[in-house]
Amino acid sequence: MKKYLYSILVISFISLFLAFNFFCQGNSYETRMQTSSSDIIELPAPNHSGKISVEEALLKRRSIRDYTDNPLSLSDISQILWAAQGITGERYDFRTAPSAGGLYPLEIYVASSNVKDLGNSLYKYRPKNNTLVKISDGDKRQDMSNAALGQDAIDNSSAIILITAVYERTSVKYGSRAERYAHIEVGAVVQNIYIQSVSIGLGTVMIGAFKDDHLKNVLNLPADEQPLAIMPLGKI
Ligand SMILES: Cc1cc2nc3c(=O)[nH]c(=O)nc-3n(C[C@H](O)[C@H](O)[C@H](O)COP(=O)(O)O)c2cc1C
Repeated sequence: MKKYLYSILVISFISLFLAFNFFCQGNSYETRMQTSSSDIIELPAPNHSGKISVEEALLKRRSIRDYTDNPLSLSDISQILWAAQGITGERYDFRTAPSAGGLYPLEIYVASSNVKDLGNSLYKYRPKNNTLVKISDGDKRQDMSNAALGQDAIDNSSAIILITAVYERTSVKYGSRAERYAHIEVGAVVQNIYIQSVSIGLGTVMIGAFKDDHLKNVLNLPADEQPLAIMPLGKI
């Protein structure tokens, strides 16, 4: 009997420990930023049906580096962010892109410069609430273009998506394979953004040529986040 009770105690303790860990992981980056309510932008609900088929979007997908001056809408931004990391799970917070162990190491930023109803600022996307949180003010195109070897697509864009990874979220479970997994995940997100862009009439290009430290400095990114992909956006 004593042995039986002891086993139950040990199992309960382990369950509590695992539940606590799971809870902390899921919330750590959501609560990291202390922000005032004026810095939080509610995004319009994304569409779950589009005007073209997946096949047609795949057929038409191309890297586009020239954009018109027509402003993006907040709905365009919401749609792109949903495609990148939107929550789609009914019971769990699964997302539009796969993630090793469901640990979601990626963070998505938007630097807006020509978006209706959105100031020229750097924002972080919060998938769980479908909101943007302002990180800093100002048009970031010049700084980001300088970090990316002066690529014109960034200078000409109306908004810029930046994808970073917090490798530690994945290495907790997968050790040294974490970087590999995060890099695979960023590829899935990039393709989602390309395909969604085709569907709503935007142009974009995956930009991988940039100086990591330069970019981290100009955007004042957290030390544990590694920038992996820049995707300028604009109407075509
Ligand atoms: C990992 C990676 C890095 C890339 N980096 C850049 C870049 O820095 N600048 C750029 O203009 N295009 C970049 N591209 C886009 C490629 O040039 C483009 O995908 C390729 O020319 C094929 O054209 P498509 O995307 O229209 O099919 C990159 C693509 C990938 C997958």
